[in-house]
Amino acid sequence: MSNRMWGGRFAEGPDAIMEEINASIDYDRKLYRQDIEGSKAHVRMLAARQIVTPDDAKAIVQGLDTILSEIESGTFTFSRALEDIHMNVEARLAELIGPAAGRLHTARSRNDQVATDFKLWVRDTLDTLDDQLSELMQVLAEKAELHAGDVMPGFTHLQSAQPVTFGHHLMAYVEMFARDRSRVRDARKRMNESPLGSAALAGTSFPIDRKMTAEALGFDRPTANSLDAVSDRDFVIEALSCASITAMHLSRLAEEIVIWCSAQFGFVKLSDKFSTGSSIMPQKKNPDAAELVRAKTGRIYGSLQGLLTMMKGLPLAYSKDMQEDKEQAFDGLASISLALAAMTGMMRDLEPVIKTMKKAAGSGYATATDLADWLVRVLGLPFRDAHHVTGKMVALAVDKGVELHKVPLEDMKAVEPRITQEVFSVLSVDKSVRSRTSYGGTSPVNVRKQARRWLKALAAEKA
Ligand code: ARG
Repeated sequence: MSNRMWGGRFAEGPDAIMEEINASIDYDRKLYRQDIEGSKAHVRMLAARQIVTPDDAKAIVQGLDTILSEIESGTFTFSRALEDIHMNVEARLAELIGPAAGRLHTARSRNDQVATDFKLWVRDTLDTLDDQLSELMQVLAEKAELHAGDVMPGFTHLQSAQPVTFGHHLMAYVEMFARDRSRVRDARKRMNESPLGSAALAGTSFPIDRKMTAEALGFDRPTANSLDAVSDRDFVIEALSCASITAMHLSRLAEEIVIWCSAQFGFVKLSDKFSTGSSIMPQKKNPDAAELVRAKTGRIYGSLQGLLTMMKGLPLAYSKDMQEDKEQAFDGLASISLALAAMTGMMRDLEPVIKTMKKAAGSGYATATDLADWLVRVLGLPFRDAHHVTGKMVALAVDKGVELHKVPLEDMKAVEPRITQEVFSVLSVDKSVRSRTSYGGTSPVNVRKQARRWLKALAAEKA
């Protein structure tokens, strides 16, 4: 049998393989709510513009509401022969209300319909990501405030560099996730224009009111070019690009968690709730949640690459290629959402091992820069000379197999005779972090201030 939605000129139905490659209902059924919402807005506008009668519009809206409850209660039968969510809904509408159902598709095409549905769905998803990012920021800032004064090694090249506080390290991620949030909000603003009424590609000869449907669906305005409107997938590509950057940030934090909770580092303890055991090695507690967050990054980037590649050669306007946007976007955006939830749970439960971190912070000559700064400040050495002198002291300490603050004063004096006992006051890790009061630096006072600033801003948003 040929398709009853478009089969007028067809004598034969599709080959089984054609149906297999063409049908999108198995995944685009996810858009049912947006599809029904869009159709209701459309038919109400058609009635307001006297393109359909009030009675037909009423029957259509009621029928659509019935379909919504059928889908939500699981009694709706989806059909692959009907290709996609749009035609599944419309066919059922015809069963429910008869020929009036055929009037719904006036001044509309599946091309503007799918763009509208998908935009509504992506918009909701961006709002969810926004909320999830702010929750993660909240958890991190709370933990940072609590540990504003707890020292850990700061690394460059994963080599001990200078002591920082655990709170400072966490606040670095708060800044990253705040930028991610602003990207999400920005993307939402840019994408919030309604494609509905662009019809197949050229607009329509019916006297429709696109502003009315835009407003009903919470869009800021209708799109200004019908060709662009039906062929634009920037909105989902941008959402995936936001997701990819966030995934990259999450993956860095996940990687740090994996390192920190290893026996060799022992900086943090993960809760049982976010780790797993080994079936053969009874001693193991593995950071699987962190590893999986790190791994999800691959499929999130993959969805972005997939869509960019799928779109790049398409002439205007719609091509069926675009149907391939959904599965990948659904997967990428579900993955980032899950990764955010897992990271938030993990970070909420994560306990730093303060003693171990502090001990590590004091090893690896991490206060060498403090020594050099002291030589500049107290003895008036140019920084380059101070750097050289300090280098010699470090070599001395390496020779003796001790940390910097354990090098005897006499040995230090042999390198730089003007050194006094006072130098030891800057060689402790606590002093080191406390001295870094420059704006944005790691001093506990700074960190506490930054954590509170963010907590206040997040609370103000909720109020
Ligand atoms: N299922 C299609 C999609 O997702 C809907 C649009 C179909 N339009 C068309 N002209 N065949 O892209």
